[in-house]
Amino acid sequence: MSYKFLITGANKGIGYALTCEVLDKGYDVIALCRDTSNTINLDELNSAYKDNLKIFKADVANEDRLRDISDSIDGIDVIICNAGIMGAKGGMFDQQNTPNTILNVLMTNIAGPFFTIRAFLEKLKTSEKPKIAIISSHMGSQQHGSNNAYFYRASKAAVNNLMVTFSNELQSYNISVAAFHPGWVRTDMGGQYASLSPEQSAKALFKLIMKLNMEDSGNFFNYDGNNLHL
Ligand SMILES: NC(=O)c1ccc[n+]([C@@H]2O[C@H](COP(=O)([O-])OP(=O)(O)OC[C@H]3O[C@@H](n4cnc5c(N)ncnc54)[C@H](OP(=O)(O)O)[C@@H]3O)[C@@H](O)[C@H]2O)c1
Repeated sequence: MSYKFLITGANKGIGYALTCEVLDKGYDVIALCRDTSNTINLDELNSAYKDNLKIFKADVANEDRLRDISDSIDGIDVIICNAGIMGAKGGMFDQQNTPNTILNVLMTNIAGPFFTIRAFLEKLKTSEKPKIAIISSHMGSQQHGSNNAYFYRASKAAVNNLMVTFSNELQSYNISVAAFHPGWVRTDMGGQYASLSPEQSAKALFKLIMKLNMEDSGNFFNYDGNNLHL
């Protein structure tokens, strides 16, 4: 079976590495990027894989734009909600804990996956083995609590909760939905001292996503395949 993936935040970091991995395995990617002026990497990929890669500009907080893209494409098999932002990294007095930054974190990390899944659901229903993967973080787990990044943690806890609700509502369509912690990854978000390269994380995530089935639906997985607490 050939698979068509839709990946958000595909221009850099884990989203870009996932895009490379999927294309390398011979499958198709619809790559969504917030800003197509910084897609140099993707543009290079496009010349190598032009029949397998389509690039669209889309902010995941803009559902109208996501719907327009959905209307313009054929069916898809896998949605990977990867786009995310950190916001304030510090404690409660971190100066980035402003209404605007908080709103951006919540709109991107919680509403973004919700709008993406809702906009592309009809296209996913045409698949024989439809799957949804939400790239979350163990920072959203109550068992990995700490004293910083208040709204990032809260947003990932919330998107894990959304994932469970989606898994319940989409069960009757045989759509499996799961959340994944990608590891600590050397990206703009993870920083240079993180333990995994984006390629290592993407390879591990790709394997898990490919074998995702209805029994896995509603679960939160580490990149190594172990279950994590919500
Ligand atoms: N790196 C880690 O250690 C780590 C650990 C746990 C979880 N994660 C999660 O993994 C995912 C990917 O993170 P990363 O490390 O690859 O971060 P990254 O390098 O900062 O990349 C984030 C991606 O999301 C995109 N994005 C942000 N806001 C968006 C919006 N409103 N609409 C569309 N795209 C948007 C960015 O686009 P621009 O280039 O335009 O900004 C970029 O492509 C995130 O959900 C993150 O929370 C990462």
